[in-house]
Amino acid sequence: MTNTTKQADDAIDHPTGILGQGLRDGLQLKPIRYQWAYDLYNQAVANTWFPNEVQLVRDLADFEKLTDDEKHALKTVISYLNPNELLINKSLAFGIYPYINAAEAHIYLSKQMWEEANHFMTFEYIIETFPFDREEIYAAGFGKKSLAAKAEFQNRNLYPMLEGNVDVTTTEGKKAFVRSLVAYNIVLEGIWFYSGFMVGMSFRQRNLLRNIGSLLDWITRDENLHLTFGINLLLTIMDENPDLQTPEFAEEIRSLILEAVELEKEYNQDMLPKGILGLNADYVNQYVMYMTDRRLEELGFEPEYNVSNPAKWMAAANDTLELVNFFESTNTSYEVNGGK
Ligand SMILES: [Fe+2]
Ligand SMILES: [Fe+2]
Repeated sequence: MTNTTKQADDAIDHPTGILGQGLRDGLQLKPIRYQWAYDLYNQAVANTWFPNEVQLVRDLADFEKLTDDEKHALKTVISYLNPNELLINKSLAFGIYPYINAAEAHIYLSKQMWEEANHFMTFEYIIETFPFDREEIYAAGFGKKSLAAKAEFQNRNLYPMLEGNVDVTTTEGKKAFVRSLVAYNIVLEGIWFYSGFMVGMSFRQRNLLRNIGSLLDWITRDENLHLTFGINLLLTIMDENPDLQTPEFAEEIRSLILEAVELEKEYNQDMLPKGILGLNADYVNQYVMYMTDRRLEELGFEPEYNVSNPAKWMAAANDTLELVNFFESTNTSYEVNGGK
């Protein structure tokens, strides 16, 4: 066997890190190298649900009782979450899946991609059931400067990966991968989506839109696993790539997250210009800051805002995770399936 052939065979038999380079990588499940990914796959399969298990008849009657400001808030939430569920799906397909070198992570990502499609179709189900005019729905959110600023953030951090000319064997390529992972996972799924979930679920506190609340419960249960996967993936990449372990890159990631919080505060002002019963932009913003501190801690950073959770009723929605450490920890094991 020539040296070159031997090296190629070694690369297939003994894959190195979780970041891979192509189609031939990671075609064998055993031995499992990333137990957390395999455990999360089994947990995700156990969590499978379908939107039509919930009927929306009572919620439709509730909707008629809402004020114009409440209807505006609900439409803004749906107009944001609906297309962005599909954006997450695409980010996984173009920006994450092709660069991963582990079968156990691929099977999890396949399930997550189906879940994002299922979330997208859940919002479609709500749009189809409610007396919503699609153009009116999207007008509730689109055209606003705050949404354009969020879109610019997404484009800047997600598109370099989506365009497909990143080489993840270089430090710059790995950084582009991590920025994209932080943007879609920590920022979109872990912070931005939660203010929408919170506004949508707040109606249940007043005994309204309870079935939409149940759908959002299921979505947040999925999102909790998506975050656990994303954070474990980040930890693993940081651990396996010493060239990324610099204070400058850590600071860049922290700044990216804090920038996203400012964009979300502006957006929440547009979502709730006058506030609705029990909820205004300041209240949602405090929740966003509280959630961001939890995400920062989950990544091993110091918290930034040190505010209390104004919406303790959201805790049932699995909005925070077990603490992990982004840059130092070796503990990447999550207990799922009740420790099975
Ligand atoms: Fe989702
Ligand atoms: Fe998600």
